[in-house]
Amino acid sequence: MICFMRSLVVPSALLFALMLASCSEASESAEASTDLIPLSDVNPAPDIVEVNLVASAGSTRYLNDGPADIWGYRDGSKAASQASVPGPVMTANKGDRVVVHFRNELPESTTIHWHGIRVPNMADGTPSTQREVAPGESFNYEFTADDAGTFWYHPHVRGDVQLERGLYGMVIVKENDGIAVTAERAFVLDDVKLESTGKLSTRTEALDLMLGRQGNVLLVNGKAGAQIEVKSGARERWRFVNAANGRYFNLRLPGHKFTVIGWDGGLLPQPYEAETVLIAPGERYDVLVTFTGAVGARVALETIHYDRGHEIPDPGVLPLLTLKLVASGTPPAALPATWGRNVDLEVPVDAPTRSLVLQEEEPKEPGQEPKFFINNQRFPDVPPIEGKAGAVEIWSVKSDTEMDHPFHLHGMFFKVLDVDGVPPPHAGWKDTVNVPQKKTLRFAVRYGTPGIWMFHCHILEHAERGMMGELRLAP
Ligand code: C2O
Ligand code: CU
Repeated sequence: MICFMRSLVVPSALLFALMLASCSEASESAEASTDLIPLSDVNPAPDIVEVNLVASAGSTRYLNDGPADIWGYRDGSKAASQASVPGPVMTANKGDRVVVHFRNELPESTTIHWHGIRVPNMADGTPSTQREVAPGESFNYEFTADDAGTFWYHPHVRGDVQLERGLYGMVIVKENDGIAVTAERAFVLDDVKLESTGKLSTRTEALDLMLGRQGNVLLVNGKAGAQIEVKSGARERWRFVNAANGRYFNLRLPGHKFTVIGWDGGLLPQPYEAETVLIAPGERYDVLVTFTGAVGARVALETIHYDRGHEIPDPGVLPLLTLKLVASGTPPAALPATWGRNVDLEVPVDAPTRSLVLQEEEPKEPGQEPKFFINNQRFPDVPPIEGKAGAVEIWSVKSDTEMDHPFHLHGMFFKVLDVDGVPPPHAGWKDTVNVPQKKTLRFAVRYGTPGIWMFHCHILEHAERGMMGELRLAP
């Protein structure tokens, strides 16, 4: 197994491409704005967000080389809009009704899944809940934004390919939380594998399938080597989602600490300070940062190595975004005394435990694909787990592989109980959680509304090659 991995690792080529990415920073930063494009709300009612979202082919320039052909979302309410990576950001207030008129202009069928949002089952956007939206067809998604937090949307058909091409966007659900900041920013993290022409690589290597495709250019809101201006002494709120197929981001900002205030399920009951924030594919983190440098200083948001298994080589520190401290900001106001809702799920002593073992099978010969399993079964050849809406159960998820897997359950939040028996240091609601290599993570969940809810590894190459299942909830 070890030899298999070593023979496929090409660190020098990868490093070179990463250097390319950061070297082009100077010439690009001027126009490389990291602001997300807002999705227009066409409904004048204050508590209804009604949008037109279109998936279509387009083109973007990740580096100064040639353009890349992408698939992305565009704002269907604006005639001249172009597909962008990430797609436009949808913003709602907690409690709003959300109506999405979706049209597919791609050459293949797709769906939209609203990752983390507790939608009614028929709006969950998976092939278990709807017919795929064929080219030229439309579909309406309707739900209520019951939870404030940072969420995202993406297809649930051939996810490894469709997300890699650029189909994803953020959803921000706001509430009146009294957190005073100078600016709020949202960052969608990803990486792309580019050819020297600037086009997306279409070559898939065994390693891409084994680990989830890792790119050679890191992106923040679709931009490589971007720069933003912040105010010295000011506090900002940053929301992160990791939309990459396989890359883990382990963020740090030298000289600064992050105050982590939110996870997948919204604000934490109690924030905590952290030097680094590890974000596995599919996860979201909300942080506060107060900039300590002098006016004129620059500091880079970086990602550092995290050992997620299979001897992935340490590529060193990789820059994501440069912050330039301009002018002095207002010193931060006091933070609120109370934060998010308690993670107060009571687990009955007789709550049943579902045991899920995540497995991998490496290719036996060159040219074959790796396979991924849960309990020796490969989706779609697997019977659903049967449960009852409202019941509380424990899931015990074991990574019986030499790598980590970010495990995602649709339609509900859960509470992590322990990892190999050790309770987590912080509490918060999750819908996606990293299950470390060779370890067992247990979470408790109160089942949501009736229907078929998918669960899977959010390394999309794993999900699409078998590491996926369905939870069927009866009323
Ligand atoms: Cu973000 Cu089923 O996924
Ligand atoms: Cu996985």
